[in-house]
Amino acid sequence: MSYSIYHNEDYVRFNFNAYSSIMDFNRNGEKEGIKYDMDDLVFEERSEITFITIDLPVKSHVIGLGERACGVDRKRRKMICYNTDPNTYRKDQDPLYSSIPFFYVIKEKDVKGYFVDFPGRIDFDFGVEIYNRIKIGVHSESFDLYCFTGKTPEDILRQYLSLTGSPVIIPEWATGHAISRYTYYPDRVALEVLDSYREYVPVDAMYFDIHHMDMYKLFTWDRGRFKDPEKFIDELHKRNTKIVTIVDPSVKVDQNYDVFNRLNGTYVETKNGEIYTAPMWPGKSAFPDFFNREGRRRWGEEIREWLKYGVDGIWLDMNEPTVLQGDKTMEGDAIHRTDHGIMRHRDVRNAYANVQAMAPYEAMAEIREKPFILTRAGYSGIQKYAAMWTGDNLSSEDDLHMQISTASSLSISGVTSCGCDLGGFFNRGNPHLLAAYYRMALFFPLYRNHKDIEGNDQEIFMQPSEIREDMAESVSMRYKFLDQIYQAVYFSHKYLKPTISPLSFYYWKDQDAIHIEDQ
Ligand code: NOJ
Repeated sequence: MSYSIYHNEDYVRFNFNAYSSIMDFNRNGEKEGIKYDMDDLVFEERSEITFITIDLPVKSHVIGLGERACGVDRKRRKMICYNTDPNTYRKDQDPLYSSIPFFYVIKEKDVKGYFVDFPGRIDFDFGVEIYNRIKIGVHSESFDLYCFTGKTPEDILRQYLSLTGSPVIIPEWATGHAISRYTYYPDRVALEVLDSYREYVPVDAMYFDIHHMDMYKLFTWDRGRFKDPEKFIDELHKRNTKIVTIVDPSVKVDQNYDVFNRLNGTYVETKNGEIYTAPMWPGKSAFPDFFNREGRRRWGEEIREWLKYGVDGIWLDMNEPTVLQGDKTMEGDAIHRTDHGIMRHRDVRNAYANVQAMAPYEAMAEIREKPFILTRAGYSGIQKYAAMWTGDNLSSEDDLHMQISTASSLSISGVTSCGCDLGGFFNRGNPHLLAAYYRMALFFPLYRNHKDIEGNDQEIFMQPSEIREDMAESVSMRYKFLDQIYQAVYFSHKYLKPTISPLSFYYWKDQDAIHIEDQ
């Protein structure tokens, strides 16, 4: 194992085995070679895993590390970075959809920040195996470890975001009340849902899930359900409602399907050089390889065409990427032809959503001031392109409380435009719980009600009158604060601050704050 040390004003970087990051991070003003006080760091390599251990004082806490199904403090927990669709998640389920290997160690007198830049698997152990050390197992010999030099969590977040990219500024409407279901159709029913909602509350955006497509074929409409998509979108726009459509990464393998043919030559391959295929919603599917310029260019062309219908935002789902077989992850030996050479899927997996989001972001930026992309998966840097929601949560009291920690932890990990499915996605909730989600998430940057096919109806107009009033009051309160909510999004973009944050982020010196997870 060998490493070189670089540094600039913000961090010290340990570059292991001449790792060349595929992420386009801004390493401005870096110089090589510096003396680093190594007291708190130990490196060791064992059977293809590089172990890093870091001092974890008795009276310390760990926050950050992106979305996790637990409270704010990561101490005495083990966590994995390897994007995974957990089907659904309950408290303590790990890992989830995205991987942000960046965390803060809050000590009595100071704070330290660390970021392991490796988009493959990383195992984190925050004082479980060794009481007073963090142990990180990076499944590679080549990667970068950044140690931030800031003195407060705010400093450290600013340094991390200067490196990995300033958070996207989403359009104002994306912070308004949004509605979604798996899936509202046909067109006239969707409009009926929207109009019924609007009797009680404003609806700034309506999301369309996978049933808007013809047999789940990307960039198509089911013309039986949406006869005239342009006209339909026009109807939504007349009501001041934007439309966001889902786009999965799975392209139906079918020689008679134009999109499949046009993207041919840019798909992820098996190690034998054939197109890698796996079952997904449309059946046997291929997956575009966004890691190379040509793959992104052609993907961008498809998105450009799609936007011509008048679609306002793109919702990137299943982009861990998930396949509907085995453990739901793509074969680790599959091959990406990246701009930096051929790479195994297992070594770049977590960044698939990042490169997937680039072309849609650019395509939208050509025609609109502020692009809107919602993503489920991602890796450090995803915040430059997309907002993120916390995936398929379960309607439950537990989830209701946990989402405060899950979403605010995403925000202090740089993904500042974040939110959860209001009401909970899976299972049958109940009207009281639904109204409680609307209250709980009042100040989340995203505010979208979304529900699974089999779940109970979560539309406001389907609730008992008392609950309708309760929900309408929350929405009205949100709109009163919408300027402030949007300002937080803007400040995150401009000044590299979190939008929402756990109390312990600002009150890190206060011993009680870390225990308060519902504010
Ligand atoms: C999984 C997503 O997390 C969920 O929001 C969506 O409704 C389903 N996929 C169907 O597209």
